Amino acid sequence: CGIVGFTGRREASPVLLEGLRRLEYRGYDSAGLVTSTGNELHLRKKAGRLAELRGHVAAHPAPGCSGISHTRWATHGGATDRNAHPHTNTAGDIAVVHNGVIENFAALKHQLQAAGTAFRSDTDTEVLAHLIGHYYHGDLVAAVRQALSLVKGTYGLAVMARAEPGVIVGARLGSPLVVGVGADGMYLASDANALAGFADKVVYLTDRQICALTETDWEVRDQDLSPVSVAVSDIGHFLSDGDAGRGAYPHYMLKEIYEQPETLANAMRGRLTEADSTAHFGGLNLSAQQLRQIDRVVMTACGTSYHAAMVGEYLFEELARLPVEVEYASELRYRNPPMDRNTVVLALTQSGETADTLAALRESKRMGHTTLAICNAVGSSIAREADGGVYLHAGAEIGVASTKAFTSQVAVLTMLALYLGRTRHLSSTQGQRIIDDLHALPEAVRQALRCHDHVKRVAAKYAHAKNVLYLGRQYLYPVALEGALKLKEISYIHAEGYPAAEMKHGPIALVDPNTPSVFLVPRGSVFDKVMSNMQEIKARGGPVIAIASAGDREVAAVADDVIAIPDVPEYLQPIVTAIPLQLLAYEVALLCGCDVDKPRNLAKSVTVE
Ligand code: G6P
Repeated sequence: CGIVGFTGRREASPVLLEGLRRLEYRGYDSAGLVTSTGNELHLRKKAGRLAELRGHVAAHPAPGCSGISHTRWATHGGATDRNAHPHTNTAGDIAVVHNGVIENFAALKHQLQAAGTAFRSDTDTEVLAHLIGHYYHGDLVAAVRQALSLVKGTYGLAVMARAEPGVIVGARLGSPLVVGVGADGMYLASDANALAGFADKVVYLTDRQICALTETDWEVRDQDLSPVSVAVSDIGHFLSDGDAGRGAYPHYMLKEIYEQPETLANAMRGRLTEADSTAHFGGLNLSAQQLRQIDRVVMTACGTSYHAAMVGEYLFEELARLPVEVEYASELRYRNPPMDRNTVVLALTQSGETADTLAALRESKRMGHTTLAICNAVGSSIAREADGGVYLHAGAEIGVASTKAFTSQVAVLTMLALYLGRTRHLSSTQGQRIIDDLHALPEAVRQALRCHDHVKRVAAKYAHAKNVLYLGRQYLYPVALEGALKLKEISYIHAEGYPAAEMKHGPIALVDPNTPSVFLVPRGSVFDKVMSNMQEIKARGGPVIAIASAGDREVAAVADDVIAIPDVPEYLQPIVTAIPLQLLAYEVALLCGCDVDKPRNLAKSVTVE
């Protein structure tokens, strides 16, 4: 979800609405704001996209130079007007917007109800409004602190009190919050991107800190309300290319798909050195000694980043001969896997804010492991908390379905594998060959994008399918998972990714003339094996769409449709084969009439558990 607050010397609601627009990709099932004039709070909230709120505010203006706002991804309670934030206490003199989950909300609600409080929503957040209202005796900071001392769970909060116009109080535990300092006032947001162009300086809150903003000042305190000194950083580099908008593209997702030749070049720029035939990274913060001592890597991530990590497992095994375990962050955080001290934990995350990934990273750190992160969002929580890391430099990714972040993550993993491999068994000749292959990659991706028109025709043929299988082996097994995820996310068609041979043990039962299978079958070490699997599907009447090396007649003789990709070495095939799968999901989703950039029920950055 997204939070934006402003207090200063201009009307708040235009600032809040613009900030929410930039954060809408974080959640978009309802939105709301509250502003303050003198002794009155003006509350406006609406289910649905931000446009609904914008229309509502245009018809019923919310005046005042201070306010807080929210765009929601529902956790407790459906996406309705009454569940939208801000929430208020019964008297309507405290207003709260909240990211995160109050885990003990049922018990707290029960107590409040027993004491006669009537609830007006199904959210966990409303509990906070009543609690803060209960403890409020003219000092909002003190009331927030007291209320939070009863709360179990996570929060990024912004709160206003009717009796303290111009004051915004924020608090953070597990859900990001940043204070912005601008010439015309003070800002609060869950993501610095919302503040680009408004604030000049930013201050990141850390867990358990509370901040108070007035029109001209800000302060940060710890949980005992003692003032703390914090680092103030420049916001300059947060001006992302996402702010430039979609340009001529109808959707961010398409723009981001087409950016990949460039984003891959950006991921590699300055990192590959011919002199020693290896890769270099500025921010790993590991000595040569520590590097050589690594004997195992645990990669952790969610969603698409998890699929990139799975490719990483194959890459690290082959190029660096390092054992790798890949685990969903939501699982790793509650597991207690035996890890010795030479195990490095590597978190992969586009946003750097995914709650489960952050928690898994923290738990690993607590156990004394070195933690690294591959991250896109500069300055994000995970980027700041990991011991070292590598940025993707892919620019802002706005489309909810991740595309360019995936290919850049895989490119960075390839470079990391090269780097680790070169400290072990890889010769300089082998290292140099990998560097040459990587240099040729952006052009191969450019060529792969040329399949778009053909993909459009294929999409038209299969868009009516209710189920689709995605099958690949070895390096392309994770890409099969990713292809299926892309289709599910944006077209709502059920899809399953499987290791091509494993489909015999279950999914093959789904195969019929209405269930297409997408085969990832470029030339490589398992080509013949995958071809046999393809025959098994054909023998059962299943249509086959093959992603294959350009000009492959053997595949063309069996598959119903063949989408051609350029030849690249096997370890780079995940990046090149991902392109037609992204385009296929995009085109099918368009034909199904779906909102490609903001698919239902999803959010770009999941900052709750
Ligand atoms: C959400 C997004 C996915 C993304 C996942 C992990 O589910 O919708 O596109 O892959 O989170 O996000 P991260 O920012 O950690 O890579």
